[in-house]
Amino acid sequence: MRIGVLTGGGDCPGLNAVIRAVTRTAVGRYGDTVVGIRNGWKGLLEDTLEELDLRRVSGILPRGGTILGTSRTNPLKDKAQMAKIHETVKKHEIEAVIATGGDDTLSVCLALNKEGLQAVGVPKTIDNDICGTDYTFGFNTAVHIVTEAIDRLHTTAESHHRIMVVEVMGRHTGWIAVMSGLAGGADAILIPEVPYDVDELCNRLKKRHKRKSFSIVVVAEGAREKGQDQFIVQSNKVDEFGHARLGGIGSVVAQKLEERTGIQTRVTMLGYIQRGGTPTAYDRILGTRFGVAAVEAVHDSQFGKMVALRGEQITLVPLEEAVHQPKKVDMEFYRMAEVFFG
Ligand code: F6P
Repeated sequence: MRIGVLTGGGDCPGLNAVIRAVTRTAVGRYGDTVVGIRNGWKGLLEDTLEELDLRRVSGILPRGGTILGTSRTNPLKDKAQMAKIHETVKKHEIEAVIATGGDDTLSVCLALNKEGLQAVGVPKTIDNDICGTDYTFGFNTAVHIVTEAIDRLHTTAESHHRIMVVEVMGRHTGWIAVMSGLAGGADAILIPEVPYDVDELCNRLKKRHKRKSFSIVVVAEGAREKGQDQFIVQSNKVDEFGHARLGGIGSVVAQKLEERTGIQTRVTMLGYIQRGGTPTAYDRILGTRFGVAAVEAVHDSQFGKMVALRGEQITLVPLEEAVHQPKKVDMEFYRMAEVFFG
């Protein structure tokens, strides 16, 4: 077979593990040809493809980012672009496309599949917000990075008797905040799923500071104060999928905390550090499992499906299930984290 592979949306650690696993399985096990599509769906609009052989994917397993490049290109906005994608696929005699991405990339994958493209999805994102799979690769690495940052912030917070606010990514879900907050021993975690009350938070921290002289507050970029319907954004510009660039809530929270508690407060915004660099062993293994399973799904003609992790098993779920809404934080984890607040 001739199989195309692409990576779309925000990059994340583990993408190269998928590309390597797809190539090794397809070429090594089935004698297929693998065509790398550059920069997500954009590569099929601009006809920028490269053949991936075993040599090209050698040594990429520990590397962050994606050797294919990525973009937030949305061909769904324009019928002509959708047609162009089918045309490029036909021109290069690609029989199946493996699309690795978050909900945006996967929703394009679903639409193209409905129009006849033989496609299989692979879920990736540091946000862990894709339905149908327990975890996405990239998330574990991001949680490790944030946890290490929280550990570092503890020592400086304690020395200066300060409140340290740590702003983390996650878009409209608080998975990174909750899991890294749990692992790092945060004293408060603010997530989009649970709007926060500033007075209540200040009272809790003031009480804590009578006992302990510092606090760590983890804030997800999509968190909102009770009664607020606007998100704090870095820019009003939206990307091709209509997403604004979130960011800045950490400073808003820090300022209010300092004003109302009188305790010196500092903010750290971890930003893209969370997405960069080498993947953890967990993400390399998950990416590898997804890549192998995606090629198997292609050979079993399981198109319109996404590979997924359920418990310890890799399985297939309909793409519809994956993209219908973001997967919110499991409240059991949040309630557990609350035990350690204050
Ligand atoms: O979806 C991954 C993510 O890193 C989000 O956590 C964040 O809100 C967004 O991407 C940032 O997007 P961009 O790379 O377009 O700035």
